[in-house]
Amino acid sequence: MRIFSGIQPTGRKHLGNYLGAIRQYVEGQERGEGIYCVVDLHAITVAYDVVELRARVLDTTAMLLAAGLDPARCTLFRQSDVREHTELCWLLASVTAHGDLNRMTQFKEKSARQRELISAGLFLYPVLQAADILAYQTDEVPVGDDQRQHIELTRDIAQRFNERFGETFKVPVHRIPEVGARIMDLQDPTQKMSTTAGSEAGLVFVTDEPGAIVQKLRSAVTDSGGEVVCGPDKPGITNLIEILAVVRSSKVDEVEASFAGGGYGDFKQAVADELVEYLGPVRERYVELRGDERALEGVLAEGADRARAIAAATLATVRERMGVGAT
Ligand code: TRP
Repeated sequence: MRIFSGIQPTGRKHLGNYLGAIRQYVEGQERGEGIYCVVDLHAITVAYDVVELRARVLDTTAMLLAAGLDPARCTLFRQSDVREHTELCWLLASVTAHGDLNRMTQFKEKSARQRELISAGLFLYPVLQAADILAYQTDEVPVGDDQRQHIELTRDIAQRFNERFGETFKVPVHRIPEVGARIMDLQDPTQKMSTTAGSEAGLVFVTDEPGAIVQKLRSAVTDSGGEVVCGPDKPGITNLIEILAVVRSSKVDEVEASFAGGGYGDFKQAVADELVEYLGPVRERYVELRGDERALEGVLAEGADRARAIAAATLATVRERMGVGAT
């Protein structure tokens, strides 16, 4: 079972990133062969700062290691270090429908936010993502809920390629967690927790100090009524119940049962305390790991060597099937 995922090199990871995706990476490394990629080539499709990008890649690498990825058991690398990704992106672009790319909601959202340039790279973003995944003959892609459409497109591209050029790619499936795939903003629980949309008070960062976490949880928006139960008319409480269910590795109804008869105040305090305990060790490891940039670069370099060996084999087959390059 081969598991692949990519993660954006954004600076601070929040609870949505952690519970929706990162947590699944760690779990994936127990279940199969995990290959994880920090996608700096995706990051350059929107406005960015050159110096900052390099730092953000190391931030994200340190965060993944702090969360529990073990370079001895999985492959962790930087996308741009394995040039096969860009080559495969171009090759796949010719079996991708322009109309499909036009329908991608992430493209529409991100292009609406650009002030200056809407790059062609942003339009091709999902093709590069398909290349990331298909280069490794991936079985399963752990992602948050927002990536559903991109994984569907990846499947379409693989199928179209296989029909046109013969069986070449494994058609991957996505793995979206049942609970925790969509963590909502604490101040506006009808919106997904997100650095681009949310306010600071609505987001919990993995590296937040305990005091900040408690403060944010205490002032989280709750709903009318007083019972700790999920419901469509209770987005605030539902979100907090989901967070606690993931933190406790238990089920939503077990969390509800454990607060039967209790009020919102005690419940919010419990979520805050348990979250502090859950994230504390990650924050401490992060600070330590982030301090040693040479060690982080070493992990990425070794990961890239392993990744390249797999991707290069796929590329050789693809080039042959497509009739490009010397035989
Ligand atoms: N687009 C993904 C995101 O925004 C990141 C990503 C890039 C990815 N390549 C990938 C995710 C391959 C899964 C598989 O989160």
